[in-house]
Amino acid sequence: MPHYILAIDQGTTSSRAILFDKQGQSLAKSQQEFPQIFPADGWVEHDPEAIWSSTISVCQLAIETAGVDVNDIVSIGITNQRETTILWDTQTGEPVYNAIVWQDRRTSELCKALRDQGLEQEVQDKTGLLIDPYFSATKIRWVLDNVEGAADKARAGRLAFGTVDCFLLWRLTKGQSFKTDATNAARTMAFNIHTQEWDKELIEHFGIADVLFPEVMDCSADFGVANSEWLGAEIPINGMAGDQQAALVGQACFSPGMVKSTYGTGCFLILNTGDKAIKSNHKLLTTVGYRLNGKVTYALEGSIFVAGAAIQWLRDGLKLFADAKETQSLASKAKNDESVYLVPAFTGLGAPYWDPDARGAMIGLTRDTSVEDIVSAGLRSVCYQTKDLVGAMALDGASFNKLRIDGGMAVNDVMVQSLSDLLDVTVERPSVVETTALGVSYLAGLHIGLYESTDSISALWEVDKSFTPDLSEQVRDKRYAGWKTAVERVRTKAD
Ligand code: G3P
Repeated sequence: MPHYILAIDQGTTSSRAILFDKQGQSLAKSQQEFPQIFPADGWVEHDPEAIWSSTISVCQLAIETAGVDVNDIVSIGITNQRETTILWDTQTGEPVYNAIVWQDRRTSELCKALRDQGLEQEVQDKTGLLIDPYFSATKIRWVLDNVEGAADKARAGRLAFGTVDCFLLWRLTKGQSFKTDATNAARTMAFNIHTQEWDKELIEHFGIADVLFPEVMDCSADFGVANSEWLGAEIPINGMAGDQQAALVGQACFSPGMVKSTYGTGCFLILNTGDKAIKSNHKLLTTVGYRLNGKVTYALEGSIFVAGAAIQWLRDGLKLFADAKETQSLASKAKNDESVYLVPAFTGLGAPYWDPDARGAMIGLTRDTSVEDIVSAGLRSVCYQTKDLVGAMALDGASFNKLRIDGGMAVNDVMVQSLSDLLDVTVERPSVVETTALGVSYLAGLHIGLYESTDSISALWEVDKSFTPDLSEQVRDKRYAGWKTAVERVRTKAD
């Protein structure tokens, strides 16, 4: 009997579903974009109903396209945009407000107040995170303070908090299962990554103690069973991880020192640090890489808020091209001096600057600056930001000479070569770049015994293309110095 796994990848700009076989080959894929809501400067929301309906429809479509018998789907894995916060009424199942997206900066004042109270050290020691609007905790507080009736519902013990994984699980199981996994919990700023428990003291400090928090599970576990109403059969859900951690698994980065970078809406560089939670002194995050059989593998993470979103802005905002695929040929016609810099701080700057109030800029423009030069600057902005992260990791004592990459932008050879040149490391692109979905299908498969161990997953990883650096040190340093100058122009606070 065939065994298929349905991977749900609920991302920031689209929901995807991919059906995988045991060899990790994709049988069918379906993807649907949904509206981004920008109610004010720095605010980003999603309608939870759009998240839910797009997720269900891509699942149905992927199954239909693959033409498989739904009874041959042995498990579901859920991976998701992390930190995005949904609060819902457990009695009605209705969200009380839109999902507040990870990119949202509305709680920047609240974060400042928490820092002024001297909480930064305690937060970093317990959660591995820095106080920033990026994480869920202050978003929860904002809903309690600003949404009519929310605080009353919380006091009545009927207001549930979940990241997108947890909300989808709740809906798929028709309210039977209120669970999340350790990687998603680790992004809330309310979870102690050392004890692997919700931190009651922090939750009190943040003023969110009345809210219901889900049970935290391993990434491979019994999460519940999808009701047959949705996909035509009852299907167990056995894999769950935040999208960046799922990509770490999909890239088979199972040994300490292995590192991957995923280029989606944002870019997230994650280094496996094994059983050690390494504390960063250079503003990186300590997080849970994955948790299997109760054993935590930690990771060091650098998070950039805008990567693919910069290309989306060049396409939809400036209308410089119609399809992201064109960026490769446009960028290859740009002037060689690379003197235009785009700093895409549309929603502030993430690691290693953590400046929520910074905004974007383009500098170095002259009368002969062309569309090609601007597109090239957009692609290179992603590489320079990655270099900032790699620099911070090196200062934290973690250097590497090989990087595995994935995500939508990884198919762009010009971008990847430029990345290799600027980082001065070999960059490897695997044959499957949908690594996030693949990773969570592996996690589900591990639980049901489709894969014996992480070693059997490593054996399935294959390189598609390797890129080696081809730029002199002098040119590399000059270009990077230009980037640093550009970044300094948009920053609103010093280190
Ligand atoms: O932390 C945010 C991240 O999980 C979003 O990922 O792929 O939607 O850019 P993505």
